[in-house]
Amino acid sequence: MIELKQVSKTFGYGEKKVQALHPIDLTIKQGEVVGLLGFSGAGKSTLLRLINRLEVPSGGRILVEGKDITDLSESNLRLVRQRIGMIFQQFNLLSNRTALENVLFGIQVSGRAGADATDKALKALHLVGLADKTQAYPSQLSGGQKQRVAIARALAMEPGILLCDEATSALDPHTALSILRLLKSLQRERGMTLVVVTHDIKVASYLCDRAIVLEKGHVVDNIDMRMPQPVSLLGKFFFETAKGWTDETVLPQEDA
Ligand SMILES: Nc1ncnc2c1ncn2[C@@H]1O[C@H](COP(=O)(O)OP(=O)(O)OP(=O)(O)O)[C@@H](O)[C@H]1O
Ligand SMILES: [Mg+2]
Repeated sequence: MIELKQVSKTFGYGEKKVQALHPIDLTIKQGEVVGLLGFSGAGKSTLLRLINRLEVPSGGRILVEGKDITDLSESNLRLVRQRIGMIFQQFNLLSNRTALENVLFGIQVSGRAGADATDKALKALHLVGLADKTQAYPSQLSGGQKQRVAIARALAMEPGILLCDEATSALDPHTALSILRLLKSLQRERGMTLVVVTHDIKVASYLCDRAIVLEKGHVVDNIDMRMPQPVSLLGKFFFETAKGWTDETVLPQEDA
């Protein structure tokens, strides 16, 4: 689905050279939810931006849905980018356009504006719970609502992959959780691949199947974040027991 082979990134030249990413190998499966964790400057955003080729790699190869996008020209990248949505910490909405116009703009930029574009945009806004804010300008919306518009803009393109760069970092915990819940339910409904940059382990443990930890441009860890998911009553009993008994612990067979 997404494959990085020995991908590296260096910014600047000579004295000012910064190796943001050392050669990285990474495979993300279709429908997987992967967190990129690390401190400031670790290379998280750079890695994310390489996936939709907002950054050009200094070395290695990038494959998205089986297609090698490493050397694609801007015009050929358009097709690939139609498959990849992105949302940002600072929402990146156009301030002189309404919520609806912002979502429509996303559809136009992706080159998919047909007769049904307005319909699609309205549907996307409805889906993120903003059916009553379609005519509002960004300045009239709260942070959480702005991020919902940004999510609607990304979703209207029906992307197979959604990249999120600190999408909830500027939001209070309550609003952040509501946005994460929205992302989780949309991901499940659509089977989207989600790559989420965060420095917050809570975000990764709530949302992600796997967390990649970056340090100074190196991948230093690859953690399975999925909780054990027993399906049988007995399996659940053993799992609950591992967590510690409570009054609510269900005995598998009282009469055995
Ligand atoms: N356009 C650029 N020009 C020069 N250096 C850059 C550029 N973009 C990033 N860098 C450098 O690359 C390194 C990694 O930056 P990156 O933005 O990927 O970090 P990050 O993990 O996303 O950090 P943060 O959590 O602060 O967003 C940093 O040292 C940064 O200064
Ligand atoms: Mg960043």
